[in-house]
Amino acid sequence: MPPIPPTGRIDVHSHMLPGIDDGCSDIDEAVSNIQMLTDAGYAGTICTPHLWPDMFPDNTPTNIQHWTTDLSNQLAQRGIQYPLWPGGELRLFKGVIDWMKSHGVPTLAGSRYVLADFWEDTWAKYVDPAFDWLLDNGYQPILAHPERIGIADTENLVGHLDALTARGVLLQGNFRCMTGEDGYHADQRVRRFLQEGRYWLMAMDMHRPDAQPSRLDGMQMVAQEFGQPTVDLMTIDRPRLILSNA
Ligand SMILES: [Fe+2]
Repeated sequence: MPPIPPTGRIDVHSHMLPGIDDGCSDIDEAVSNIQMLTDAGYAGTICTPHLWPDMFPDNTPTNIQHWTTDLSNQLAQRGIQYPLWPGGELRLFKGVIDWMKSHGVPTLAGSRYVLADFWEDTWAKYVDPAFDWLLDNGYQPILAHPERIGIADTENLVGHLDALTARGVLLQGNFRCMTGEDGYHADQRVRRFLQEGRYWLMAMDMHRPDAQPSRLDGMQMVAQEFGQPTVDLMTIDRPRLILSNA
């Protein structure tokens, strides 16, 4: 693992690895993104490809470690010093516990933190058991972008999130949801959840360079509406708790 940079933001949710999922398609796109990130004060990224066997069957914790090392080496060959750590965005699904038993738990940067997401119209039956299994086995789960989950207010999304956070699960919001480009509900919910102090982290959820300016705009909007210290806490200080937990 690279040393922890003494200053700067760390992006904890990123589809940076070229050609691995729906993020950067090649190394030139990764380099373009890194340029935009460093201009915005970022000093490193945890690479979190989708871990979702139906869509990306080769994405396993072991392969992601290799691919992260490969990209780091390619960047070094181009003279780019930008630390990368392996991680993953674990898609929750019905068989996810058995999948983790077979393939390992995809932790962030070798820590006990695990980033997870799911996409359903209702609070699926597999969600709480998966988080409970992680907690019972000493991991610290983080639910990615709860503001984007397609669950209607009438389905009590907030009640489910309250129960989850009460059991110790942390929440990570996406900056771009501030811009409205992820839809009305995400726009409303990200502001509500920031106002209520629900997020432990905010992140880029970076994909391809064409969408990166919007994600950076979202970070500026959080700073304007909720204060720069809020942004700094969730992009500088708390990510270091993850890196130092390794
Ligand atoms: Fe993501």
